[in-house]
Amino acid sequence: MKKTEFVLPAALNPVVQENVQRLLSGGGSAIPLFKVYMPESVLEPLSHTLMSGYIGQGPRVEAFEKALAPWVENQNVLTLNSGTSALMLALRLSNVGYGDEVISTAMTCTATNVPIMAMGAKIVWADINPRDGNIDVLDVERKITEKTKAIIAVHWGGYPCDMDELNRIGRKYNIKIIEDAAHAFGASYHGHAIGSISDFSSFSFQAIKHMTTVDGGALVCRDTEDYKRGKLLRWYGIDREGERKDFRCEEDVAEYGYKFHMNDVNAVIGLEQLNHVGEVLRKHRENASYYRQRFQRLSKLQLLDYKDDRVSSYWLFTVRVAQRLTFMQRMKDAGIVVSQVHARNDSHTMFKEFRRILPGVDEFVEDQVSIPVGWWLTEEQREYIADTVVGLCQ
Ligand SMILES: Cc1ncc(COP(=O)(O)O)c(C=O)c1O
Repeated sequence: MKKTEFVLPAALNPVVQENVQRLLSGGGSAIPLFKVYMPESVLEPLSHTLMSGYIGQGPRVEAFEKALAPWVENQNVLTLNSGTSALMLALRLSNVGYGDEVISTAMTCTATNVPIMAMGAKIVWADINPRDGNIDVLDVERKITEKTKAIIAVHWGGYPCDMDELNRIGRKYNIKIIEDAAHAFGASYHGHAIGSISDFSSFSFQAIKHMTTVDGGALVCRDTEDYKRGKLLRWYGIDREGERKDFRCEEDVAEYGYKFHMNDVNAVIGLEQLNHVGEVLRKHRENASYYRQRFQRLSKLQLLDYKDDRVSSYWLFTVRVAQRLTFMQRMKDAGIVVSQVHARNDSHTMFKEFRRILPGVDEFVEDQVSIPVGWWLTEEQREYIADTVVGLCQ
């Protein structure tokens, strides 16, 4: 197909024309909210792996797990085929089963809560703190019953939850703490990397995360016994590392597992991504701190209330705005993609039996919206976004 040049209509008002030119200088027709980061340097190791004759779970998976360990400050890394599988595995390792209760948040991707249902357990939604979008630890404690087996906490947009409190609750009631860190790769709490703080942390390496393996995820376990059991359960329950006389399935399988493992093709992409993710995270954070400074005193915009005892990975830059519908339309008109990103999960019919009163969620969903913050923004685009937001919200 013939490539057509983009030509601006001559009659276009000069301000709009300038804005459109700015946008095009960033390489697209609108500034995206998410973008796949894929360095070209992946091509060589990827084609080598593809042609190596071994594309299943092998040496690259092992190398990727070793390379991930310092990022999560934990050696017990299990790479998997998705973040959703990581949550399933965490629940299974927490021995969550039929009739048990798992406390979770409704303000997340459905992938956080579907695994609870899949285990036959009951979702008990705790409220959130509308000032940061994270689970409200006081409400978590109020909702604990004899049947509570685990708590899932999501770090909204990459901003860590109140982990000290959650871990205190976990210890007090002997309940497992699972961090859904799908947004939070590279974040830290009290100087410790997310991944090193509680019983389980799950990560997603799906297409638009800070780092991607196309699809993939990881479960990081604090307890080495959980890690060893997880290693079996991610591949049917079969020990891939044990001595074998002939084939892998000859030994008895004690406990059923899943087909959740990662393969070498995804892992080799992950290995290359790790060479760049530090810079990707740096750019997200730099853009976020620029916005935080620009949006400090706006009458129609509220920044999320972030404490400086933790470092967000800023997968999202969420703000709360007056007249959100109008704000979103104006941003769209200006060529800037914005979104609410996740719907409150209790609005879905599949979860209707778990509905309850959640005033914090009600407040947050009323006016929250995320604006582009990622590595792909040029300084000019970042300034343009900030100018547009300030113009709409002062
Ligand atoms: C909060 C949250 N949890 C879990 C997941 C699931 O991750 P995956 O798509 O890798 O299964 C996502 C995906 O975006 C997510 O945003």
